[in-house]
Amino acid sequence: MSILITGANGKLGSLIIGQLLKIVPPEHLIAGVRRLESGKQYEQQGITVRLCDYDQPESLEAAFAGASQILLISSSHHDDTIRLRQHIHAVEAAKKSKAGHLLYTSFAYPEHGAGSPVHLHLATEYAIRTTGIPYTFLRNALYTDFLGALDLGAALDKGQLEIPPGDWTFNAVTRRDLALATAAILSQPEVHKNKTYELTAPSPWTFRDVAAALTELTGKPVDLLPDPEISHWIYSFLRSIDTSSTSNQLEQLIGMPLTSLKDSIRPFIA
Ligand SMILES: NC(=O)c1ccc[n+]([C@@H]2O[C@H](COP(=O)([O-])OP(=O)(O)OC[C@H]3O[C@@H](n4cnc5c(N)ncnc54)[C@H](OP(=O)(O)O)[C@@H]3O)[C@@H](O)[C@H]2O)c1
Repeated sequence: MSILITGANGKLGSLIIGQLLKIVPPEHLIAGVRRLESGKQYEQQGITVRLCDYDQPESLEAAFAGASQILLISSSHHDDTIRLRQHIHAVEAAKKSKAGHLLYTSFAYPEHGAGSPVHLHLATEYAIRTTGIPYTFLRNALYTDFLGALDLGAALDKGQLEIPPGDWTFNAVTRRDLALATAAILSQPEVHKNKTYELTAPSPWTFRDVAAALTELTGKPVDLLPDPEISHWIYSFLRSIDTSSTSNQLEQLIGMPLTSLKDSIRPFIA
C-alpha cells in the first residue's frame, strides 16, 4: 500500500496525513508538495516526499509512479479555468502511471449549484471517469471557515449579526471531520472504490443558530438583523452553491457526531 496525497502542505492535506499516521505506517505515505524543501517535516516523520506541481505535468507523472492510491486535493488557484487545466494534468498523470485508485476532493451536491466552482468539480469528476481508473469522489461540504468572513467579532460588539434577508441554511463542516473521513476511506480502499460521498452535515443550521451559538459562547445577546443593503462576496458565493442539502455519510464514515456548530465557531471569536 502506498498512498500519495497532493497538496500535502495545505490545511486539509496536513490534517489528512495527521489522521493517516494514526492508522497506517509512515512508509506507506507519500506527501506531494509544490516545493520539495517544504516537505522536511514529513521526511522527519518517515514519509516519502515528492514534487507534485499541478502546473508541471512531468512532476505529477514522476510523483504518481508506484502509488496504489492517489488523493487529488483540488487546486486552490482562484481561476476555475486554470484549476480545471491543473486537475486534468493530474488526471492524465494518474492514467499514465496506471494508478489503481484515484480519489478526488470534489464539492457537495454540485448538480444543485450554478456557480463556476461546481462546474469545475463536476468537470473534474467526469474527466476522472474517462480514465477508467477506479475512483472515489469526496464531495466536501463548505468548510465552516466561511463563518470567518462574516465578522463575528463585529456582531458580538453590536449585539447584531447583519445578514441579507432570506432563508439561509447551511451544511458546513470542519476540515477536521473531513480529514477523519478521508483517512478512514484511504485506509480501506476496496470498500470505497467507485463511490461518491456527499460529506456534509446530517442536519442543516441557520444564521439564527449562529447567533444563538455566539450568545451561548460569550454570554452576550446577539440578534439577527436582516439588511437588504449588505453586499459581500461571500453571499453571492453562498447563493451559487447548495448549502442546504444534507447527508449522514460523513457522520457514518467517522463513526461519531460531527463537530458542533458552537465548537466550529469558537476559533473565529478567539
Ligand atoms: N469546501 C470548501 O469550503 C473549500 C473552501 C476553500 C477551498 N476548498 C478547496 O479545498 C482544497 C483544500 O483546502 P485547503 O483548506 O487545504 O486549502 P489550502 O490550505 O489553501 O491548500 C491548498 C494546497 O494546494 C496546493 N497547491 C496549490 N496550487 C498548487 C499547484 N499548482 N500544484 C500543486 N499543489 C498546489 C498548495 O500548495 P502550497 O502548500 O505549496 O501552497 C496547498 O498545499 C482547496 O485547494 C480548494 O480547492 C474548499
